[in-house]
Amino acid sequence: MEKKHIFLIGFMGSGKSTIAHCLYKKYGLLQLDMDKYIENEEGRKISSIFEQEGEAYFRGLETEFLKKLDQKEMFVISCGGGVPMNERNVQEMKKKGIIVLLHANPATIYQRVKNSHHRPLLEGNMTEEYIGKLMEQRSSVYDQVADVIVKTDNRSAEEISAEILEKTKIQGE
Ligand code: S3P
Repeated sequence: MEKKHIFLIGFMGSGKSTIAHCLYKKYGLLQLDMDKYIENEEGRKISSIFEQEGEAYFRGLETEFLKKLDQKEMFVISCGGGVPMNERNVQEMKKKGIIVLLHANPATIYQRVKNSHHRPLLEGNMTEEYIGKLMEQRSSVYDQVADVIVKTDNRSAEEISAEILEKTKIQGE
């Protein structure tokens, strides 16, 4: 029988990888990080892919990942923040699982990402204002495509993970 994945979507720094890891540690759900998978396949970092090939090439890799994804085992998949902006990706995620949006305010996001330097879209744009603007461009799409929305501001990974399981009706170990 084909299994349904959980796709964690949301802005950079919304906690997708952290929550996927918590769902693995606490409930034994298998974790798959889309950016890490792409980096392994390509043998280089996301920032090098952007620099050497451009953003469009990277977006193509995201779509390829989703198209290739089989459903033999269920995974919690932390998606890159731009994934839902492509309709093709949304179709693929809807077909293969449940889309869970992790929501956080720009101020929270800024605090979480301000000291990291692996996100090409934020390099040179590391301000709360820029984050707010980019989030504005994306949030209506995020909201529309999500099957489940979970707020993450000022909440622990454990609380958020428990709410995801409750809302998706998926049972961990
Ligand atoms: C991106 C988000 C990043 C990564 C790339 C582009 C985006 O992933 O895929 O830098 O367009 O929002 P995270 O959301 O895991 O930071």
